[in-house]
Amino acid sequence: MARLKVILRCTECGAPSAKWAGRCSTCGAWNSLIEEVEEDTVEVEKAAVARATTARAVRLGEVDTDRYAPWPTGIGEVDRVLGGGLVRGSVTLVGGEPGIGKSTLLLQLIGSLGGQGLRCLMLSAEESAEQVRQRAERLGSLNPNVWIVADTSFDALGPALDDVKPDLVVVDSIQAVYDPEVGSVPGSVTQVRGCTYRLVEMAKERGIAVIIVGHVTKEGGLAGPRVLEHLVDTVLTFDGDRHHGLRLLRAVKHRFGPTGELGLFEMGAVGLTGLADPSGLFLADRRVGVSGSCVAPALDGSRPLLVEVQSLVAPGSPNAGGLRRSAQGLDQGRLYLLTAVLERRAGISFAGQDVHASAAGGVRLTEPAVDLALCLALVSSRLDIPVPIDIVAVGEVGLGGEVRQVSHLQRRLAEAARLGFSRAIVPPGAPDVAGLELIRVGTLIEACEACELVRGSRSAREVAISVD
Ligand code: TYD
Ligand code: MG
Repeated sequence: MARLKVILRCTECGAPSAKWAGRCSTCGAWNSLIEEVEEDTVEVEKAAVARATTARAVRLGEVDTDRYAPWPTGIGEVDRVLGGGLVRGSVTLVGGEPGIGKSTLLLQLIGSLGGQGLRCLMLSAEESAEQVRQRAERLGSLNPNVWIVADTSFDALGPALDDVKPDLVVVDSIQAVYDPEVGSVPGSVTQVRGCTYRLVEMAKERGIAVIIVGHVTKEGGLAGPRVLEHLVDTVLTFDGDRHHGLRLLRAVKHRFGPTGELGLFEMGAVGLTGLADPSGLFLADRRVGVSGSCVAPALDGSRPLLVEVQSLVAPGSPNAGGLRRSAQGLDQGRLYLLTAVLERRAGISFAGQDVHASAAGGVRLTEPAVDLALCLALVSSRLDIPVPIDIVAVGEVGLGGEVRQVSHLQRRLAEAARLGFSRAIVPPGAPDVAGLELIRVGTLIEACEACELVRGSRSAREVAISVD
């Protein structure tokens, strides 16, 4: 019989604390300690050790890996992110903000797997069976291999497993289910963790693939302890701008394949559709002859994405609480740094100016390879001269104003050529790409000259020298 005790636990990292404090001593989060009732962990750990001792050593070369062969889900963008598909006996956590489309994605997923003859069971703790059925009907996900049990109690899963003998179990959501044996409220750290433990055990014992839905907090962390991420095999995040239809699926942890792959969907009237030509979407709203815009051949995972980087530089009023620097979908720190580099190394002054920059289409670009396009967008807006429409720019910008190499240049440029761009501003030493005229530049000033942003090139250098 397990003993119960009251402890303090951090909702961010799950670490216990002996006494109350305003700040978690493990992860540093503020006001994150809450009181919880839980089982004496010593007993839980003892039980885990007892189970672990049944393992025997085998030759590494004789380990059977067939059970880890992924099954394609039939949803191309999901398979891309998972590196082939779902793995039997694995546990996957899908995190995302409420309303972003997690339930929709998973209903479509089980509809697709059910259509291939795999038995799928959904434990729906948030929506009634009727609601889910209606939605599944609209999404075309109804088929005889898809089962549902609508209950908030974890115990409902036991009999359902025996009845259905599923290949895949989906729990929607981990914050809404509770284990009656754990004396704590649903959504608490102890409950979320306890239920996940049981799901991991169930997945391994029965060889079932399990997908857990988890809501994330405003700050982007999974509601519930971060330790959840250590318990599962795969962590996927599903996000996007709720005002745009675009949805992005990424693997942030994956024991069976690559991370960093990006899956792209569009949310429409009949659920999510994989985006076959994402670059086309990102460039769809681009306007010709407008200053402050430059296209960057970015890379997300191994997929090239052409994205318009936009900037608006406008006189600011220091009286209105100081000058502003705002970045959407781009790194704010990088924006500060690059404006400083432009001032110092290219003689483009932003003094007294508000600077806004964004990546169009709701995508997030954090790699330094977009530095050059961002710099050109900034200069273009500052001088109110458009960057020629047929140009893309790629390169990291160093503190000396030098243009540096980036990874996978060939792949990025091939995508630019495919989408009809004819010229690319690139770092020195870039290899030729069919169908694209490369303009190799060593410095920011050369890049500005190549885009005809700085007309008398000498005058720009003179400005640069006068700043020095
Ligand atoms: P949902 O999957 O319920 O989100 P989550 O499970 O992450 O909370 O998605 C809800 C939103 O998606 C809701 O605002 C309506 C929208 N939606 C569509 O636009 N089209 C559709 O076909 C469906 C099913 C949902
Ligand atoms: Mg939902």
